[in-house]
Amino acid sequence: MAKNTMTLTDNRNGKSYEYDIVSGTRGPDVVNISTFYKDSGMFTYDPGYTSTASCESKITFIDGENSELRYRGYPIQELAGKHSYLDVCYLLMRGRLPSPEESKGFDLEIRHRSFINEGLVRIFDAFPDGAHPMATLGAAVMALSTFYKEHLNLEDEAEFKEMRRRIVAKMPTIAAMAYRNSIGVPMIYPDVDRYFTENFLYMLRAYPGGKMKNLGNGLKDEIKQVEVDALDAIFTLHADHEQNASTTTVRNVASTEAHPYVAIASGIAALWGSAHGGANEKVMDQLRMIGDVKNVPSYIAKAKDKNDPFRLMGFGHRVYKNRDPRAETLKGLQDKLREELNLDSQLLDVAAAVEEAALKDDYFKDRGLYPNIDFYSGVILTALRIPVEMFTPIFVIGRTVGWITQWSELKQDPAHRIARPRQLYTGK
Ligand code: ACO
Repeated sequence: MAKNTMTLTDNRNGKSYEYDIVSGTRGPDVVNISTFYKDSGMFTYDPGYTSTASCESKITFIDGENSELRYRGYPIQELAGKHSYLDVCYLLMRGRLPSPEESKGFDLEIRHRSFINEGLVRIFDAFPDGAHPMATLGAAVMALSTFYKEHLNLEDEAEFKEMRRRIVAKMPTIAAMAYRNSIGVPMIYPDVDRYFTENFLYMLRAYPGGKMKNLGNGLKDEIKQVEVDALDAIFTLHADHEQNASTTTVRNVASTEAHPYVAIASGIAALWGSAHGGANEKVMDQLRMIGDVKNVPSYIAKAKDKNDPFRLMGFGHRVYKNRDPRAETLKGLQDKLREELNLDSQLLDVAAAVEEAALKDDYFKDRGLYPNIDFYSGVILTALRIPVEMFTPIFVIGRTVGWITQWSELKQDPAHRIARPRQLYTGK
């Protein structure tokens, strides 16, 4: 069968260059232009990589036009709330869902790796009160690389897998400690009798000695199953998202042969920005700033004003030019929780009014700007009594498995090379 090719012609001199068109299992075909510079002496120019496929991958598929997101072939709607987050981690890392025995075994492996070295606990002392947990989390994960140097022997499959499990298991502990340090309260160590997500809520909320808040009348502020289930679904919805900014950062750093935990720390840095994972924190600030349904029209006008840098946080996405399927799932979860937990109805009303106004407005419709995952996660996390500065660390906990799985794929890809783009120089 004839190969599919694309011919590019330089109109200045009539020279033509032919490139293979490669098809994946789904999604747009790609033109393999990897020899373009060698052939023509020219670079391609694509700021923000809007037309660039940077790698081949088998992990996550997104169809942004049709609101579709799949992990290893499974639609997100069949995973979030239907399988535990740890089963989804297993799926992402190993390519298939675990059997019930494998699921139990994996859960135990993660529980027993949730502790961190005592030396790493002390790193938090170096940061001032009020330090943002994203900063201390990033620093502690970077420091984690100094405790697991032996895992640089990536030829050893057992070590390779151990290294992946460790980072997933330890991230909630480090995130919870980063938060406790920021408010100056004693650290709480993991409780191996608790499942991953429950354990994280416990480490955030417990008092020294592992006691839960006494509510009087013999009642304790125990963690509710509905809270664990909601946060577990949130972790699943954040678990991977193909070649987004933070994952691309992890892959770029990994391509230099840096330590895997250093690559993960760089992903944390990239995720923190308000155009990426940091948006969930900004959504809450913005909803509180809007404050009342009657103020919504003036903020919509601000977002549309090209002379005003104000953007509607939680709206728009590079890939989804239609509804974000994660946001749709979260909206369903939010409606369910409204019944069962104490959701802030003033905030919910403002959020609903913003959404309704934006979805009707030609500015947002013409540009394909819909609510993204960050628009809904904040209201739900608030109902779970998660402090706003922990919203992005929660994104980190969920995404760690995606980063480390993408890192593994890069390491096992014989075609991988150091990431080294070029430039169009316009300086002196
Ligand atoms: N509010 C108002 N206008 C917007 C918004 C917004 N939230 N998002 C995009 N636009 C406008 C832009 O001004 C631009 O308009 P123009 O064509 O008239 O110049 C157009 O829509 C396209 O926007 P770009 O910035 O070119 O789109 P890009 O794909 O580069 O950016 C991004 C996507 C960064 C997510 C952007 O929509 C944004 O800043 N949103 C707000 C922050 C946010 O919610 N981020 C979370 C993303 S999800 C995640 O990372 C988990």
